[in-house]
Amino acid sequence: MEKDIYILAIESSCDETAAAVVKNGREVLSNIIYSQIALHTEYGGVVPEIASRKHIEKINQVIQQALSEAEKELKDMDAIAVTYGPGLVGALLVGVSTAKAISFASGIPLVGVHHIEGHISANYIENRELEPPFVCLVVSGGHSHLVLVNDYGEYEILGRTRDDAAGEAFDKVARAIGLGYPGGPKIDRLSKEGNPDAIHFPRAKVAEAEYDFSFSGLKSAVLNYLNSCQMKGEEVNRADVAASFQKAVIDVLVEHSMDAVRRFGASKFAIAGGVASNSSLREAFEAACKKEKIEFYHPSPIFCTDNAAMIGAAGYYEYIKGTRHGFDLNAVPNLKLGER
Ligand code: KG4
Ligand code: ZN
Repeated sequence: MEKDIYILAIESSCDETAAAVVKNGREVLSNIIYSQIALHTEYGGVVPEIASRKHIEKINQVIQQALSEAEKELKDMDAIAVTYGPGLVGALLVGVSTAKAISFASGIPLVGVHHIEGHISANYIENRELEPPFVCLVVSGGHSHLVLVNDYGEYEILGRTRDDAAGEAFDKVARAIGLGYPGGPKIDRLSKEGNPDAIHFPRAKVAEAEYDFSFSGLKSAVLNYLNSCQMKGEEVNRADVAASFQKAVIDVLVEHSMDAVRRFGASKFAIAGGVASNSSLREAFEAACKKEKIEFYHPSPIFCTDNAAMIGAAGYYEYIKGTRHGFDLNAVPNLKLGER
């Protein structure tokens, strides 16, 4: 029997301080997340300096808790996996420095992980049968990528956003209709009371790149709609705005994704990232994949938003491929997927 591989994973790229212990890439023994959302809410978004400081305060405690909940000790770990990009540089540095210090002191190998590779790998946790190749849509606060996952750790980016990320559009529209930060879950909830066909917002296409996305025009269309209502003295039905905006985002995501599925003959499709926890988006993809007669995969909401278990899953596949990083590993705020 092969030896079990245990990964201690650390994630601090944005506003979650997280650590997890993952066994053989797919079994989560612990998943500790200290969310800073409440701290940033009063500013209407993540304040990088506050995020970094809070990570420093919390990271050791979160790591200790991850080990103790897993009923493991540091010496049981085969590797320390850490997100080294993309993300906020000061926030990333806290995780990277901590991982390097632990690796240096213990002699346990260090494996740097790309944050988006982590989001994609979240799908392996609860879908033990899922293996590449598959097409994956990664939609979060910072990223909107349509990716062809050819093999573990081998990615081809088919499309990306030209401007705002999908989650960013949710957050901005939520702010405009007075819902506050983070907007995604709030729009998700309010949309259930609204009519998605009440207002027709644009579905943008990028002429020369069929899989690319653009959400800034949609955001402007919502703002213009709100302004014109105000000027005409008409009352805004916020639930209708939320539902119609959400439908416009989902329509574009589904259409581009299914075009890619057909073009590349994929038999499996997965979603990942914070926006992937959106309930209407999940329903829409469930239906679209059924129509295409392909398998649909999605992580549970807790593995969609930032967490370290997903970094442990990605770190495992990097580790068994032989990826190791030295103590010169640095935080790379704009790290590209597939870059070393
Ligand atoms: O993956 P994530 O935690 O962080 C990044 O890597 O960016 O994603 C956070 C984003 C935020 O923009 C948040 O508004 C959005 O995911 N989000 C949602 C939902 N839950 C979180 N968007 C739409 N519907 C949701 N239920
Ligand atoms: Zn993320």
